[in-house]
Amino acid sequence: MEMLKDKRIILGVSGSIAAYKAVDMASKLTQAGALVDVVMTEGALEFVTPLSFRSVTHRLVLIKLFDADSELSLEHVALAERVDAVVVAPATANLMAKVANGLADDLLTCILLAVQAPVIVAPAMDGHMYDNPATQENLSKLRARGFILVGPVHGRLASGLVGMGRLAEVDEIIATIKQALGRKGDLAGRRIVVTAGGTREPIDPVRHIGNRSSGKMGYAVAEAARDRGGEVVLVTSPTSLPDPVGMRVVKAETALEMRGEVLKAVAKADVLLMASAVADYRPKEASDTKIKKNAETITLTLVRTPDILSEVQGDLVKVGFAAESDNLVENAQKKLKEKHLDLIVANDVTAAGSGFASDTNQVVLIERMGKVEQLPLMPKGEVAHRILDRVAMLLSKRA
Ligand code: PMT
Repeated sequence: MEMLKDKRIILGVSGSIAAYKAVDMASKLTQAGALVDVVMTEGALEFVTPLSFRSVTHRLVLIKLFDADSELSLEHVALAERVDAVVVAPATANLMAKVANGLADDLLTCILLAVQAPVIVAPAMDGHMYDNPATQENLSKLRARGFILVGPVHGRLASGLVGMGRLAEVDEIIATIKQALGRKGDLAGRRIVVTAGGTREPIDPVRHIGNRSSGKMGYAVAEAARDRGGEVVLVTSPTSLPDPVGMRVVKAETALEMRGEVLKAVAKADVLLMASAVADYRPKEASDTKIKKNAETITLTLVRTPDILSEVQGDLVKVGFAAESDNLVENAQKKLKEKHLDLIVANDVTAAGSGFASDTNQVVLIERMGKVEQLPLMPKGEVAHRILDRVAMLLSKRA
């Protein structure tokens, strides 16, 4: 299920040097299957050309409110009614000031006054303009009216100065659009806890026992749940992945820390999905100082960690993952029973393109009620949606 497929999106572009990044965004949205109509302000024309956008969207680019050549631009109200989301990126201080005060003196501001669909605003401007109380007041007004703001972020600005005012990353803006589109999805209002990554059990201040989990599978599940309307808490061990937007991200390094965070988070949850690879054993004691290379052999005593999934009880849907190298279904079924799960995702970590660190995965879904489904090799994002299809079904059965 691709969130953006056939979704009608108006991309409003105003006059900032960051406008060139909007071309990349229009391209990415189009590649994901969205129908992107770009609306440019006069100011935006100073930085990029309509042809840049038309070349990537293969659709009309609209500028003037009263443009005899464009039947669409005369119907700004109809246009605003037909869309699934409007995103303004970059949004200048001037544009936001106009919108905050209800001005409608060009096509983009008319659309923003008429639109009922979610509006995502990604500001970009000089740091002093951003800090100005007038801009801050306008931003508060927009927020209070339900506009979804993303960024700006701190970083290098066009002036050469470093400060607040940089346009948020394109991927972050797109993630925010997906989240807005999924507000009424099949997991809307569901509180979902997802775990990801591999725990690290310290041996001394510089060494740990770890595993090969990259966090990709768990992050994909968390993002897919968010895109379907879920309120997600992601409990993650260290990974090299950026924090996903639109969810609460909680860091947990060790199995014991993960246990503490999961038990706290599930107190108010409808679903727990544990894609993390949690250490089964940890060093009994971690040395306070770096262990020196003196002896020929050293012995580490390991102790069992608590099994988090088994400890979690209550009326929530519990989904485990099983990383297996042999007897996949049999071993996973055993874990399903022992941990009292509703569903287990059996993961053959020895198959090519599957398991740890890859972008794809091959899994078998096994339900407590006995249903077994072997899925083909597919991107982790798609695997995540197939798992969530089952979760949505299990939740609806409970209701
Ligand atoms: O992160 P990636 O690189 O994308 O890789 C994805 C993955 C291979 C890590 C993932 O798909 C996966 O299979 N995760 C589960 C790995 C695992 O540790 O399986 P397990 O069989 O040891 O544990 C079974 C279940 O119990 C898991 O849901 C695990 O989170 C949970 N568990 C394990 C130990 C423990 N002390 N407490 C637990 O709750």
